[in-house]
Amino acid sequence: MNTITTIALITGAYKGIGLEIGRQLGKQGVTVLLGARTIANAERAAAQLQEEGITAIPIELDVTNSEHIQAAATKIESEYGKLDILVNNAGIFLDHEGNNVDVMRRSFETNFFGAFALTMALLPLIQASPAGRIVNQSSILGSIGIILSDESMGNASAPAYTTSKAALNAWTAQLSIQLRGTNVKVNACHPGWVKTDMGGPNAVMEIEEGAETAVWLATLPSDGPTGGSYHKQEALPW
Ligand SMILES: NC(=O)c1ccc[n+]([C@@H]2O[C@H](COP(=O)([O-])OP(=O)(O)OC[C@H]3O[C@@H](n4cnc5c(N)ncnc54)[C@H](OP(=O)(O)O)[C@@H]3O)[C@@H](O)[C@H]2O)c1
Repeated sequence: MNTITTIALITGAYKGIGLEIGRQLGKQGVTVLLGARTIANAERAAAQLQEEGITAIPIELDVTNSEHIQAAATKIESEYGKLDILVNNAGIFLDHEGNNVDVMRRSFETNFFGAFALTMALLPLIQASPAGRIVNQSSILGSIGIILSDESMGNASAPAYTTSKAALNAWTAQLSIQLRGTNVKVNACHPGWVKTDMGGPNAVMEIEEGAETAVWLATLPSDGPTGGSYHKQEALPW
């Protein structure tokens, strides 16, 4: 069992911002476990990062699948005995499918319940780390204050996405309170509007830049913040 290497698990990590978070952490010498809903996608992403000299390990992890979550916890426990960094990056945007309870439920299943269930299953392993870091990949659209006060944001008509990310934000604050006085920090992250399959080609930020906030939060020093929401090292309002 290797307890010296820093171990990170990133969900939704075979493409987009998640893969880039894996790359940037890997280049810092972190062993990165790349979660994807299918093992084929995880393996392809891990092979890509391995070619760049990174220690990348594929892991089958649909965050809505409790068996995948349990298997991931068992694997990390037996192989590493701890988890230093968890980046809850997996996310979906379904509002183009309609404004109804099915879209709302499915959005919450991934964006909120998935992150919640995985984190709770892994929390003992994160607490076994000398410096546990949990990063919840949220969105500025989850900030109630911002969508009410900024018209350009308020016009973003995405009730399922915004409420599921707002729930993720509220729980981030709750978890930080529970973890006060421990070695574990938990923060919410807004990556920016990033050119990915979700962000689309008109987004203003390249993927490399979009990963930077999460990587900063994942590698915070012991005097770094906890219980906040951040973009580019600046605190956002809830
Ligand atoms: N791009 C932006 O402008 C932007 C802005 C604010 C916040 N964000 C957030 O940033 C995160 C990453 O988004 P992205 O822009 O990189 O989008 P993306 O390229 O669409 O990537 C999303 C990733 O999440 C995965 N995923 C979805 N449901 C999952 C599940 N149940 N279990 C495991 N993985 C699942 C996807 O896998 P599949 O392909 O298999 O579904 C994919 O790998 C998301 O949480 C998103 O809400 C993005």
